[in-house]
Amino acid sequence: MKKLWTAFLLTALITSGCGSNNTQEKTTTKAEKVTKSASFDEKLAGGQLGSETIAFVGAGTANKLWVIDGKYHKLVSTIDAGGPYNERTNKDFYPNLNDTHAIAFTKDFKTLFTGDWYNYDEPSYVIAIDPITMREKWRLPTGKGAHHIALSPDDKYLYVANQHDGTLSVIDLAAKKKIKDLQTGKGTCYLSPTMYWDGKAIDTQYMFLSVESENKVVAIDMKTNEIVKNIPVGGMVHGTNLTPDGKYVWAAVMGAKKVAIINPKTLEVSGEIKLKEGPIHITFSPDSKYGYVTTGGNQIYKINVKTHKIEWSSTGTTVPAHVGVTPDGKELWTLNHGMDKRYPYTLGGAAVSGVQVWDTETGKLITEIVADGVPHEIQFVPYSVFTPKTEAAKESSHGNHDTVSAAEEIFKKTCLSCHGNDLKGGAGPDISKVGGKYSEQEILSIVKDGRGMMPSNLLSDQDSEKIAKWLSEKK
Ligand code: HEC
Repeated sequence: MKKLWTAFLLTALITSGCGSNNTQEKTTTKAEKVTKSASFDEKLAGGQLGSETIAFVGAGTANKLWVIDGKYHKLVSTIDAGGPYNERTNKDFYPNLNDTHAIAFTKDFKTLFTGDWYNYDEPSYVIAIDPITMREKWRLPTGKGAHHIALSPDDKYLYVANQHDGTLSVIDLAAKKKIKDLQTGKGTCYLSPTMYWDGKAIDTQYMFLSVESENKVVAIDMKTNEIVKNIPVGGMVHGTNLTPDGKYVWAAVMGAKKVAIINPKTLEVSGEIKLKEGPIHITFSPDSKYGYVTTGGNQIYKINVKTHKIEWSSTGTTVPAHVGVTPDGKELWTLNHGMDKRYPYTLGGAAVSGVQVWDTETGKLITEIVADGVPHEIQFVPYSVFTPKTEAAKESSHGNHDTVSAAEEIFKKTCLSCHGNDLKGGAGPDISKVGGKYSEQEILSIVKDGRGMMPSNLLSDQDSEKIAKWLSEKK
């Protein structure tokens, strides 16, 4: 056990609090709810149905990616990240590599990337995988200790944070070539993603990189691929994320028990949120109103982005570290570095780990999904990416062919995750007859301004007009 855990800098630094009592309590509440009112489908999903997405998770020591159905909360597949380089020479635990940590998707969801940190003394690999066939497309050596990765907003460059040699590799994706290594510092660690759910890039000129042992966040210009500023944050720092609207950067300053807030335009620290424990990772709600922060002591906080008020806090099980919010904003998934004695066995020689799924409204545990390895980064991808076009959809696209199929494509990419197949609703309401309720103009303003849990400005003006016209004809 020891050996495995010490490979994880993070885990070693966090004293895990005791979450098991709390979890048991919550399991009981969930069980009561199931017997009272849940439908058969809800029961299968652990009490509450999630969103129609497939979640891809870097599963660390298992050298796999987990593939999880987000609606039913079930592990449905795994992808082996080892390829030809995976030799099982370590007899205590099956991987002799150190980590498969990262997940990043191109904005069209057609390629996913992970990093494979195989050996301390050799370069890691970045691996491109086709998420549909789940096959490897290509791999390239980066620096040593590939940890987190992220893409530029235009998907031209892939950045790989090499924790072990303190560099950031810049990969030109069209050329499939590493074009440079920036010297970024000791403990080069986490990169702020430029896309969370919706295929829409966050509007940002800079990539934000945390450098743990040098207590700083590095801003990198993604046009020139140069370091523009080292931003000191006053302590060891890990997760660093932009709000989806691109207005703030939150940095988890574990060493000073605070979230440092950075202005992504001026690159100055503009504020801080003090917490009782050291924060680890951060994510946000799709409307940019709430931040979710995991901390030492297994705590999870929901924090108001404007007022910094803590909306709720919950106790997870054994180091909830990475976090992801579903596209409908309703669930928070924590990627835990272990579970507890409820799973009294090992898998592949290592302790069971998993995901805990929380209700973002109440902070209550909905369910958990366990597997082998230690989960890290997560990306939710809409079902539609994996759904072959149906006969019905093909039929309806004759006639006004171009605009209709363009609108359908837009709907699939941006709206389907919430409004469901055939517009029949999911997290968002049924909009299959919305043309009978609103005029084209009214629909256009809903699409532009958002409404309730529906984010604003999901589309360009032109695409908003196309989809408003298309929806206004659905009566
Ligand atoms: C993150 C989830 C989400 C996404 C993505 C989303 N919606 Fe919505 N949408 C909602 C929710 C939730 C509501 C209900 C809001 C309310 O009334 O509080 C809604 C409401 C609507 C309504 C009004 C429905 C009514 O009967 O009042 C329309 C029209 C609509 N959405 C269209 C779209 C279109 C078009 C897209 C894609 C560009 C889209 N939505 C993407 C969640 C979403």
